[in-house]
Amino acid sequence: MSEIPVIAIDGPSGSGKGTIAEQVAKQLGFGLLDSGALYRILGIAAHKANLDLANHSQVADLARTLEIEFGSNGPGSVILNGEDVSAAIRTDLGSDLASQVGAIPAARDALFERQLQFRNAPGLVADGRDMGTVVFPDASLKIFLTASVSERAQRRYKQLIAKGIDAILRDLKERDKRDTERPVSPLKPAEDAVILDSSDLTIEEVVDQVLVLFAAKRS
Ligand code: DC
Repeated sequence: MSEIPVIAIDGPSGSGKGTIAEQVAKQLGFGLLDSGALYRILGIAAHKANLDLANHSQVADLARTLEIEFGSNGPGSVILNGEDVSAAIRTDLGSDLASQVGAIPAARDALFERQLQFRNAPGLVADGRDMGTVVFPDASLKIFLTASVSERAQRRYKQLIAKGIDAILRDLKERDKRDTERPVSPLKPAEDAVILDSSDLTIEEVVDQVLVLFAAKRS
């Protein structure tokens, strides 16, 4: 059992545990482990490597070999195998992939040791889902931070607004790039597709155009 104190803060998304953990760590001069970031990084890395998430042992092998640097490119930055993935891991895709790889037991085992390595003097604040139950069962203090689902939805909504249009634009471009450039079934129009730009059209106008085009094909 380690002498180095750990404060474990677990809870569902939107409970505010990330923000609270950050501020508590700052006030105490402790290190911080955002364990969710590790799952997000693994999800993004698996996606970049075109791994099938059903292949649990491949995902776990990947988890063991990831080279991750936190904070070397500014506060909160994450470098994965030399590439800055700070924005990518916070996209909706990053959240979704994190939740999928988090459900793989072998991937959780592979990330376990990595998390223990964050326990350095003078202490650690660790936030996630299983900090108090699995990773640091001997934590000095375990908080389970929660909030009603409607309050969490409100917070999420406010965050999205605060994130602003520029960040949303970046997310969209990044996702388009990934979807377009992947080797398997990339996003692209079929050679005989009609390209319909909906930018300046209402839903009804698009539906009408599709129906007109279809009628033309049949005549
Ligand atoms: O805390 P977060 O939203 O960044 O976490 C993203 C996902 O990672 C979450 O949906 C579940 C998974 N996760 C986990 O399984 N165990 C943890 N300790 C932290 C996160």
